[in-house]
Order: sequence, then C-alpha cells, then structure tokens
Amino acid sequence: MNSASPKPTSDAVPIAQQVQLLLEKMTLAEKIGQMWQRNASEGHPADYLREDLRAGRVGAVINVVDVSVVNELQRIAVEESRLGIPLLVGRDVIHGFRTIMPLPLGLAATWNPALVSECARVSAHEAATAGINWTFAPMIDIARDPRWGRIAESFGEDVFLTSRLAEAMVHGFQDVDLSAPGAIAACAKHFAGYGAAESGRDYATTSIPEIELRNVYFPPFEAAVAAGVSTLMPSFCDLNGVPATGNEFLLRQVLRDEWGFAGVIVSDWDSVRQLSIHGLTEDDARSAQSAVLAGVDMEMEGDAYRNHLADLVEQGRVGMDLLDSAVARILDLKFRLGLFDNPYTDPADFPPLLDGTALETARRAALQSIVLLRNRDGTLPLCSERLRSVAVIGPLADAPHEQLGTWTFDGLAADTVTPLQSLRTLLGAGTELRHVPAMAHSRSRAGPEFEDAFAATRDADATIVFLGEEAILSGEAHSRADIGLPGDQVDLVRRLRRAGKPLVAVIMAGRPLTLTDIVDEVDALLFAWHPGTMGGPAIADLLFGRESPSGKLPATFPRMVGQVPIYYSQKNTGKPPTPDQVVHIDAIDPYAPQTSLGMTAFHLDAGYRPLFPFGFGLSYADFRYSDIRLDADEIRVGETLGVSVQLANHGAVAADEVVQLYVRDLVGSATRPVRELKGFRRVRVEPGESVQVKFDLHTEHLAFFGRAMRRMTEPGEFHAWIGGSSDADLGVSFRVLGAD
Ligand code: NOJ
Repeated sequence: MNSASPKPTSDAVPIAQQVQLLLEKMTLAEKIGQMWQRNASEGHPADYLREDLRAGRVGAVINVVDVSVVNELQRIAVEESRLGIPLLVGRDVIHGFRTIMPLPLGLAATWNPALVSECARVSAHEAATAGINWTFAPMIDIARDPRWGRIAESFGEDVFLTSRLAEAMVHGFQDVDLSAPGAIAACAKHFAGYGAAESGRDYATTSIPEIELRNVYFPPFEAAVAAGVSTLMPSFCDLNGVPATGNEFLLRQVLRDEWGFAGVIVSDWDSVRQLSIHGLTEDDARSAQSAVLAGVDMEMEGDAYRNHLADLVEQGRVGMDLLDSAVARILDLKFRLGLFDNPYTDPADFPPLLDGTALETARRAALQSIVLLRNRDGTLPLCSERLRSVAVIGPLADAPHEQLGTWTFDGLAADTVTPLQSLRTLLGAGTELRHVPAMAHSRSRAGPEFEDAFAATRDADATIVFLGEEAILSGEAHSRADIGLPGDQVDLVRRLRRAGKPLVAVIMAGRPLTLTDIVDEVDALLFAWHPGTMGGPAIADLLFGRESPSGKLPATFPRMVGQVPIYYSQKNTGKPPTPDQVVHIDAIDPYAPQTSLGMTAFHLDAGYRPLFPFGFGLSYADFRYSDIRLDADEIRVGETLGVSVQLANHGAVAADEVVQLYVRDLVGSATRPVRELKGFRRVRVEPGESVQVKFDLHTEHLAFFGRAMRRMTEPGEFHAWIGGSSDADLGVSFRVLGAD
C-alpha cells in the first residue's frame, strides 16, 4: 500500500481527457455503478459488497469509518474490478469528526468566517485519517422556524451571514483545492427551501414563491457554488408541488444552466425512491427516470438507479448522454481528490485526533459562539476570589454526550469536557462547589431533588443552573411544536429564585427557545447552544471573566412560539405597528370599538417584537457606537460607498464586538425587507480605546430579484444602520443613481 500523502498535485494528462478515456471503456452497468452510493455501515465488507465492488457496481460508500475497512474497500475497487475506479467515501462530518465543534447554529453565532473555516479544516483532517474523502456539509438552508429540528444544523435565518459562512465552510473542507493533503469534498445541502417545511415539521411540504426562493433561499447556494463546492444535495421536500429530487427547475435550470454548477449532485438518503411516496411517480423506475432527468448524478442508499437505469436507457426513456455526463462529473471528482493516484489512507500522515490545535480551535469556537442575553447589574462575570461557595444545578451541567449536540456520529462523550469539570478546575480548593443535577434529563418532572437544589442554592454565594435541551431534541426528524424549556425546568428556576441568591442560567440547546418565563427570574443568562467537546472550559472562562462573551444571535428568539416565523428582515406591511399602538390582550376594554385596538400588524398577546432580536448579544465591555458616516450621499450603480462608525469601549475589559451593517431599500419594484444585513466585522477593542470600523458597500450588494425576476440594483433612496444588533438605531440615508 502506498503512503497517503501528499496527494498528487498534477498529472501530465488533463483530467477532462482522462475522464473521457475512462468513460469510453465503460459498460452501461459500470456507468450505473458509478452512480450508486451504497451504505457500508455493516462493518467489514460483507460478501455482497465485495461482489458489487469487484463487478464495478458501486461508485461510493457511506458510513464506514474504520480506516482498515476503508482501505480494504478501496483495494477491492482498485485492484479487483475491471477498470480499477476508486471509491468516494462519504460521512456526515457536520460540526466535527472526533473533536466536536459547536453546532453549526452556534458556529454562526461567532460571526467569524475565518474561525468557522478553521473548524471545517480541522474536521476535514480528522475525517481524512479514517479515509473519508467526502462530507455532507455545510447545510446552508435558511432557517426561520425554530420548531424545525434541523435549525441546529443551519447557520440561522439570514441570507448574508449564511452565505459568508457557506463560503468559509467550503474553503475549510476543500482547502485551496481537493488535492491538498487532508482536503475532503464538501456538499452544499439541501437545495432548496428545506428550512421552510410547514410548521417546522421535518420533511413537510414547502411552498415558496420564486421571488423568495431567489432572494432568500438560493443565495447561500450560489455563494457555495461560486466558492467551488464540489457536490450538492437536493432537499427531501416537496417544493411547490415537485419534490426537489425530481425538480428540473432547481437542479437543471437554476443550478446547472444559470449558475454553471459542474459538480456532482447526490440525492439525499433514499430520496429517489421517495418520489413515488410523494406521489410524483408511479414506481421506482419512474422515480429513477425523474431524478436522472432532473439532474441527480448519484443515488444515496436506495436502489432505483441500480435496478432500473439500464432498462430506462434501453427503452430510450433516459438518454445515454445524461448518464455519460453524470458519470463524467463523478470521475472528475475522483481525479481531483487524487484517488486515482493513491486511494489509500495512512493515518500516520495526519496529526493525531483531538490534538492541541483541534481542541484549541474547538475551545475558541465555543467561546465566540456563546451569547450573553441578560446580565442584570453586572452579575457576570463572577469573581472566584469573592465566592466561598457555588451551587451548580441542572441536568446539563455534567452531560458530556448532550453538549455535543446532534449529528455527532464520531464524537465521544469520553473526550468531552463538561462545565462541571471545568468549574472544578477553575475554582480549585478555594471555593466550595456543590453539584445537584435536580433533574435526570431536561424533560424530567419536579421531584424531591428540587428541594436539594434549593438548599444548595440557599447555602451558596451564587448559583449556576445549566438548563436546555438534550442532543436528541433537535436535528433531523426531531422537531418540536413547543419550543419552551422542556420538563419542569421553569419550575426549577422559580424554586431557585426564592433562595434570593445571585442566579445565573446557562442554556444549552439546538434551537432558539422561548425563554419568556425565565428571563426575569434569573440575574444573568448565557445561551451556549450545544458547544461541543470543549464547551466546558469555554463556559467556565466566560462565567468567571477570563474572556468576555462576544457571540451574537444568528436567529431571532420569539417571545412565544405563535410568533413564528419571526425574523428581523420581514416586510413592512401596509400597517406597520409602533409601540404606542400595541394593546395587550389583558388591557382590552370590553366596551371599546374594534378600531381602538390599533389596527396594525401585531399579536394581541405577544405584540410584534421578539424576546431577543437577530444579531443581539451583550458583552462585559461597554460598547458605544457614534459618528456614523458616509463617504458620499449619492453613488451610481456599479460604485462602492464607504460607511463607517466609531466604536468605543467605555468598559474595564478588552472584548470582541461584532459590528453589523444593515440596509433598507425604501422603494422597490417588489417590496423590500425593513432591514437586511450587508456587512459585519468582529473587532477587538481595548478599554478606553475607540476604533473606526468601515464597510465598503458595493451597489452589487443592494441588488435583488424584483417583479421582472431579474437581479438588479434599483436606483432610489436607502437607509443604512450600524450597530451591535439588528435593532441598531444609528443610521444615515443615501441615494443610488442610475449607471449614467
Ligand atoms: C439524510 C440527511 O437529510 C442528509 O443531510 C444526510 O447527509 C444524509 N441523511 C446522510 O446521512
């Protein structure tokens, strides 16, 4: 067996030519074989898998992570099959392989594309040690419904933030090119609109007008394609009557023809055969036909291609040219990954799993992902010298598996550092620490342990309560209709409150939760998502002020689930509400006429504001924004406008702040959102320091699909705001003039 790296970087014969030469030698059965990704999770290659590999009936495998098994599968494919074509080896490396980074939604809360890219790079290198050369990430579905379990796996609600992080992940996984040692192919998923599943119920129908697809759901995918993503996966869902796997508009018209995507389109798990369950096709044969015609190059799991493509070609229902182009794309990817030169993996060529760099990257990511939502009277940071005793309560203080979050097939609880462990280390012998879980898990009901927790709180100088959701409550097929704290956690908080001691809540969860019931019961509130392997040290450092919180929400937190969907970039409506018009349901005068209630777009029982807006997050520093300036009051289409602000730190500690630029296009041929994020930058500011932060706003960033469904920047009046959240009120106006 050859050594695994470096991967060959050049070859005398251009890849396109090598692909062509190979294609000419292939039988129809061998071509169909390349288009099948087979589940190999059974472990050591079973006889039927060996047979398929020898016969060239499999082009890719999924879910095998033992490097000796992967090498054996590659050996059979390369040395025992007629054409010796190596395998793509896929795995869901979503937010880490062995070193688990924060959930993608947590990564988004860092607003730090460079760090997110580093996380992807570390994950790619770890996965590559197992022979994996393909991950099914990043998931870049815009997610505006926290009921949807897969919001955990997304970068949240915003088009601009998701697009920048999509690029970062693609570059992280794929490096400068796929031949770099440790680079693996990325997969942008799930095209398109999966996050808009009705009522947040996973796999449910999506109905999205084309204008919204183009302005909201498509841009992250277009950004990933422009960043060179190698593969792409359609969504499981029915989109406007045509499930994405058989949707020619999505896969052929938009992706291939408009964007020129030349990479591999892989189906989702068995989603080709599901076309008939959706009711789009009569049977598996028609499903295979529909998926190939739409442009799906490879079927994951399922066997519709394997069983029916040959007949479909022979009957003339699927042209050989379609198969040839699909297979050419798959072979091209294999060449670019260097698999034809060396398909084997020697783990010794890579840094060990969980090495110092990996753990430090995970710790920094966790640190920057955690959002401080409340801090009454400067409760945080806690001061270890002044605390004689601390009570650590709650089901998630010491739950190593749960803090890893969803989609962590290869992360181990044993490698994970919990907050309880980190607090013990940080506090040392000088501060007494009393740990009372009080609940076996997040869904437990009140019991006698609540009294133990109360007693510990009463006797301690401060209490930290770790609440939230376990890993299993979010992720694929794990949607919730109620997004409050599960079980009797709210009762626990109320009970602890009665002890009258400083009470800090740390919440770990895979989605925004409705925290209305506890937000005023606690003195401080840190939202930590599922922070991964190094979540414990990051949380402890933040609680005790070794670092300042700097995460910002990538998704709006509603007051009540009935407000969903609620997101900052909503449209204005014809009757926009204002605070003075909102009448609360409890204040309605039974004899007042209907019109006295304000007649604007709000809920009688929830108003129109969320609990915490997109982009929000507090700091231990005292940041003040001033002096927003424009380089000019007018620019022409095609020009760039400088927009700057002064950011001063009036506090006593150095901290990072994520400075955000929002824009509103006041009038459009189709109405525009009240605000849209158009720039952001994470900056470090020392105490007493004031820095200028400047954004270059090109008119291209103002372009959108209007009524004529063409993307353009429409001249007119705009507002811009800069600040530390989507609520920023420091603003200016400018005009965009036609090109000449
Ligand atoms: C189904 C999921 O929707 C997809 O995201 C994932 O990559 C595949 N299963 C493979 O596990």
